[in-house]
Amino acid sequence: MGAYALEMRFTGKTCIVTGGGSGIGRATALRMAAEGGRVAVADLHLDAAQACVDQIRAAKGEATALPCDVGDAAQVKAAISKAVAAYGAIHVVVNDAAMMTFTPIVEIEDADFFKVVTTNLGSVFFFAKYGVPHMPAGSAIVNVSSVHAHATTENVVPYAASKGAIEAFTRGFSLEMASRKIRVNAVAPGAVDTPMLWNNPNVKSGAEKIAGAVGRPEDLAAAICFMASDDAAFVNGATLIVDGGRLALL
Ligand SMILES: NC(=O)c1ccc[n+]([C@@H]2O[C@H](COP(=O)([O-])OP(=O)(O)OC[C@H]3O[C@@H](n4cnc5c(N)ncnc54)[C@H](O)[C@@H]3O)[C@@H](O)[C@H]2O)c1
Repeated sequence: MGAYALEMRFTGKTCIVTGGGSGIGRATALRMAAEGGRVAVADLHLDAAQACVDQIRAAKGEATALPCDVGDAAQVKAAISKAVAAYGAIHVVVNDAAMMTFTPIVEIEDADFFKVVTTNLGSVFFFAKYGVPHMPAGSAIVNVSSVHAHATTENVVPYAASKGAIEAFTRGFSLEMASRKIRVNAVAPGAVDTPMLWNNPNVKSGAEKIAGAVGRPEDLAAAICFMASDDAAFVNGATLIVDGGRLALL
């Protein structure tokens, strides 16, 4: 036995994890596979997704890499079709892939604003609309939000707005999915040790204070896997904040 006894909560289940090539998505894909899931790792960067898949296969897990820009409906449909062709029904979708910009609203190009919204929020819509027809009763969707949905800094309005909308989407869509018995929840990370955190100029400059509360990708994977599993059978339409207590600080 390792450091802890791993439950096998995803045995017999197919899980799509977007943004699975790095950070939180990667840690989630690895954990779902370690718990018996067949994992479709979808990412803009196929090499990164494939590296995650190689690691899963090296540990005798089952996974496949899918190239996908989650902000493009045609690519989302194609990724879902490939996952269904490989594994059959889809039981878990984790919408993790996202992007940020760092330009004030009065200066940002229209196209750049809508690229953030389409990548972060449009992807949640696309995987809902095109994924749900392949998801049986008992399936779960987990959308990755951010503490920026609740408290934020300057110059990241498109990101913060898209994350706030993800939480409202999660709440409303959970109602629409109740009759299908598909749960829809969100996880809102605080600062997590990934490239996205350390590439953020507001974090580099100190404008965004992380107050020493930096989580590991595995901490978020644990929360996402809980929400995606039957352990969370009575959790629906909810957002779980996983930030080491950062939002509690005045
Ligand atoms: N790291 C943090 O501090 C933090 C805090 C709050 C929320 N989050 C959220 O967690 C999620 C994961 O972030 P992370 O920190 O692991 O980032 P990361 O940069 O480590 O990984 C993001 C992954 O998403 C992929 N990606 C980006 N755009 C894509 C697109 N259009 N289509 C498909 N894949 C795309 C990237 O290639 C990358 O592999 C995001 O939703 C992010 O907003 C992160």
